[in-house]
Amino acid sequence: TAMAQPAQESREQWNHQAGFILAAIGSAVGLGNIWRFPGVAYSSGSGAFLIPYLIALLTAGIPILFLDYAIGHRFRAAPPLAFRRMAKWAEPLGWFQTGLLFVIGIYYAAVIAWAMSYFVFSFDLRWGDDPATFFVSEYLQVGDPVVSTTPVWGVLIPMALVWILMLVVLLLGVANGIGKLNMIFIPLLVVIFTALVIRALFLPGALDGLDAFFTPDWAALADPNVWIAAYAQIFFSLSIAFGIMITYASYQRRKANMTSSGLVVAFANSSFELLAGIGVFATLGFMAHQANTQVSELEGLTGPILSFVTFPKVIAEMPGGNIFGMLFFASLVLAGVTSLISIMQGVSASVQEKFSIDRIKAGLIVSILMGAVSLFLFSTTSGLIALDTVDMWSNNIGIVLSAIVMSILTIWIMRRGRELRIHLNAVSTFKVGPWWTVLVGILGPVVLGFMLVQRVITL
Ligand code: PFF
Repeated sequence: TAMAQPAQESREQWNHQAGFILAAIGSAVGLGNIWRFPGVAYSSGSGAFLIPYLIALLTAGIPILFLDYAIGHRFRAAPPLAFRRMAKWAEPLGWFQTGLLFVIGIYYAAVIAWAMSYFVFSFDLRWGDDPATFFVSEYLQVGDPVVSTTPVWGVLIPMALVWILMLVVLLLGVANGIGKLNMIFIPLLVVIFTALVIRALFLPGALDGLDAFFTPDWAALADPNVWIAAYAQIFFSLSIAFGIMITYASYQRRKANMTSSGLVVAFANSSFELLAGIGVFATLGFMAHQANTQVSELEGLTGPILSFVTFPKVIAEMPGGNIFGMLFFASLVLAGVTSLISIMQGVSASVQEKFSIDRIKAGLIVSILMGAVSLFLFSTTSGLIALDTVDMWSNNIGIVLSAIVMSILTIWIMRRGRELRIHLNAVSTFKVGPWWTVLVGILGPVVLGFMLVQRVITL
């Protein structure tokens, strides 16, 4: 079939190694780093959480990141074709990952759009003194009937902008679109976010916030849920087992140092995550200080509520809050856009390779289709509820399942462990030993299997 003989010579390539590394960092550093990590760490043992977090990073995060890289770089395709090249029957696993990307992409875009709106609202602190009501009733207009198709223009317009941006960048291609976007957005994000964190550290009460964030609660380490939370955070945060890193690695030149760049990406992602923890908790310390209470008494410390209710509340109380708000929401937008584009490329490349069409056509089809579904589901008055459900299934169940199946299939069924390891070592300066196969083939599936069962039980 046409699919078995792709035009290899014409495969797109990153302009340089830095293009790939920045794009991979862009995918990893996303909403998860800013709104998920700080709250998860805090509620899972604070300072003590760093131990399971680091262990999860070293035993599963980095090894599976290497697996993604090895598959993409060796088989030079997005997930469906990459798995098909390993074994014909394995193609559905690729489509499963592409499907997950589709699902994550359509709601990720909605959250980026909210952050764009809130960037604008920061100018005049539009949310007033009841940000919770503002967010739910005035901005999202959640309400009766629960399911409806009434458009909410304030959400629809920024969402349309996000999708237009995705379309344009996709059409510009891997090197000139995605590479250049990250080349601008990632440094900008680092500058803006660092400014935000420094400002936060000078707020009264900031140190109490850091205290709450870092003071270890050692007893938490005895709780299996804390360990599960650590592995889950690492997976989502590094964008692994979604096929993203397979796709991105497939555009690397044949002689590219894969494992070393993986280490850079993992280190950068975790550093950003820690920085976000510091910034968010310094700000929450200020919030507690203003309310004359303890950080431990505060509510709404994670997810959309942290960003769109709790933060607006603090911002309104802060001298120079408008600027703080703009920095914060700009960070969310930049971090989100660079993750969303990786999702789009994953889906678009899957379609392109399956139907042997050119990337322009694939980019058009995929962004129009995903944009339409995304707008239909999330720009109406039932958007928030749809988002919650989708998020739960894709993140809590889908990704874990994908990681388990991927590692068991590649290592145990297709027996590609040795081949992939030799492949990585042939091009990389950081060599992976047999320990890698053990981590990916045994420890990974065991821990993840445990997670999955736990998740399904607590549904
Ligand atoms: N890693 C991103 C984050 O931390 O927000 C989220 C993400 C991006 C997940 C891309 C999956 C993905 F394919």
